[in-house]
Amino acid sequence: VIDFRSDNTHGASPEILEALTRAAAGTMTSYGGDEITARVRERCRELFEHDVEVFPVLTGTAGNALALASMTPPWGTVLCHEDAHIQRDELGAPEFYTHGAKLLTIAGEDGKLRAEDLPRDASCISVTQATEAGTVYTPDELRAIAALGLPMHMDGARFANALVGLECSAADLTWRAGVDVLVFGGTKNGAMAAELIVVFRKELADAIAPRWHRGGHRLSKMRFLSAQFEAYLTDDLWLRNARRANAVAQRLARGLDVIRPVQANVVFVRFEPRVSSALRAEGFAFHEWPIFGPDAVRLVCAFGTSDADADALLAAVKRLT
Ligand SMILES: Cc1ncc(COP(=O)(O)O)c(C=O)c1O
Repeated sequence: VIDFRSDNTHGASPEILEALTRAAAGTMTSYGGDEITARVRERCRELFEHDVEVFPVLTGTAGNALALASMTPPWGTVLCHEDAHIQRDELGAPEFYTHGAKLLTIAGEDGKLRAEDLPRDASCISVTQATEAGTVYTPDELRAIAALGLPMHMDGARFANALVGLECSAADLTWRAGVDVLVFGGTKNGAMAAELIVVFRKELADAIAPRWHRGGHRLSKMRFLSAQFEAYLTDDLWLRNARRANAVAQRLARGLDVIRPVQANVVFVRFEPRVSSALRAEGFAFHEWPIFGPDAVRLVCAFGTSDADADALLAAVKRLT
């Protein structure tokens, strides 16, 4: 099978697994008091050029929900795009962790919120970077949204893919553009299971810390989450993996009629049902994406997708159409 279903159908980078093996030796302080977690915190302070606090979690859903719970009271409102993962795919986890805050969904071209479409009377704003439509927010677009004056959460499940596409610094794409909390993705881009809540404001870190523990996300053997992130951030593994994924996505985009701009590692096209069926019969796997219209399909490239995978798909599409 040549798998374009998702970036999380891919396994993990060998560097991540080697780091887990190394982290297994000896005893360490539990619940995040270990030296590996301390090094990840320091590494993030360098990378983001800011005095950040970090909270490793196993899933992006947990990271988003914990972050949002620190940014709104139960009676508050979270602004997000109508296609946001927190709205469509997390089964009410944000509402659950916030004790009932409303998600107010806003339409916007190419998966993006625009400052001029947003009401000001909300508790906070959530943006996804890269977006669910495979596009990216520029630092200027984020700054315009932040200028509304509301705290901003960034779902960065594909943060690395967005960053390498934009060629700016991690600081430019987060706190310098007004982001208060980033859920920094690892799993989709080479980690086994690791996301990092990166908090740019001390009072939000104080609000997340007890929720992280109480919600059951503070692993006693935190070293295993942190070791994944340490390896992810070592020798630019995260950037190398994301560059690979984005480059294959561009390769696909050059040979297909895309229906959304390809700015990260996700490609949207339309395949007639006949073509989709034939491609599946030949061993290609991908998901239909009906929210983008009839016959829309999503092709996700990841760190494990090769140029040969892309070329095989392009050749099959050419032959069938
Ligand atoms: C944009 C976005 N945010 C968050 C997540 C959630 O990640 P997890 O499946 O680890 O909860 C995903 C996963 O598909 C995603 O695509």
